[in-house]
Amino acid sequence: MAEMMQTQAGDAGAFTSFDLSRVPTPCFVVDTQAIERNLKILADVKARSGAHVLSALKAFSMFEVAPLVSRYLDGVCASGLYEAKLGREEYEGEVATFCAGYKDSEIDQIITLSDHMIFNSPSQKARFLAKCQEAGVSVGLRINPLHSEGEIPKYDPCAPCSRLGTPINQLDDEVLDGVDGLHMHTLCEQGFEPLARTWAAIEPKLASYLPNLKWLNFGGGHHITRADYDRDGLIEFIKNIREKYQVDVYLEPGEAVALDAGILVGEILDLPHNVMDLAITDISATCHMPDVIEAPYRPALMGEAESGHTYRLGGPSCLAGDVIGDYTWDVPLQVGDRFAFLDQAHYSMVKTNTFNGVPLPAIALWNSDTDTLKMVREFSYDDFKNRLS
Ligand SMILES: Cc1ncc(COP(=O)(O)O)c(C=O)c1O
Repeated sequence: MAEMMQTQAGDAGAFTSFDLSRVPTPCFVVDTQAIERNLKILADVKARSGAHVLSALKAFSMFEVAPLVSRYLDGVCASGLYEAKLGREEYEGEVATFCAGYKDSEIDQIITLSDHMIFNSPSQKARFLAKCQEAGVSVGLRINPLHSEGEIPKYDPCAPCSRLGTPINQLDDEVLDGVDGLHMHTLCEQGFEPLARTWAAIEPKLASYLPNLKWLNFGGGHHITRADYDRDGLIEFIKNIREKYQVDVYLEPGEAVALDAGILVGEILDLPHNVMDLAITDISATCHMPDVIEAPYRPALMGEAESGHTYRLGGPSCLAGDVIGDYTWDVPLQVGDRFAFLDQAHYSMVKTNTFNGVPLPAIALWNSDTDTLKMVREFSYDDFKNRLS
């Protein structure tokens, strides 16, 4: 089972020198230097292309580093009221909000918090357009380019019958009435080429509308901070679009902000045997890294050996499928041993839950240059209880 899953690529970076016994477990440890390295790359793309680069809070919203993020990027993109509020409270710059469905009870507050209000459908746009115009907030429409670049339907907003975005063949003057910008988000952990192919497929279809638009937002999914990403290609692409259509261009990377910038440290609790060696850990796939089960993927283990002693790692919960994967160490494991999964700063921290009363991982900030460590947050029984009644 686990062997068939794709192992996440992970770069341990400076974490190989981090002493795992310095934190309680489970614990996310985020390296400010790694975040800053990513931010510098994104800021360079921003400066050379003229694009606005927003940090997608859905992927990484550890606001302890908001001042750092705000130093390099133009603002945040939010998925609804709570993220828009967090963006305004903790980050500087612009807030661009997209939600697949806005509620009457929340819309006024979201408009107050947002610079761009991006609607998923012509009907939501028509319903809330006047309020946005009254507030002087720029209005966008998310389109579905009907051009798939994703390999996994679950992560492909252009898959058949997708609810995300207005199908590009439904655009007309009425649908675009009052719309300042178009938004699309169709990529997931991808290089520049899928973006270029998507644009080549849709540019002719948008030709008659582009002269009337103020901005184009190409969403997230751009793995810009990965070593092999064609950043020069992206920069040229953005410059061309800006010049040709006189529009502002926006990107909303999430993963790229926190790529390879955090680990999740755990501890071995027990070492049972059933046909193969097993290890129960205080990291739960379902509670702490739900994408391991949802995506699914196999997180990279820091310092995994090529051969030696293999264990199937799983969490403390009741879920039979709370299995992280099969991992190999060069020496036999002992109860109490520490270990760490790589590249856990994005999407894991924002998705944690307390199913089975499993404790939430603590959050620590480490500076790999100075070796200073700050415990940002430790969770308790109250965090579990307060959600339940
Ligand atoms: C609308 C939108 N923008 C930005 C992002 C961030 O994408 P990523 O973290 O893959 O860069 C997402 C992710 O789902 C999204 O749905």
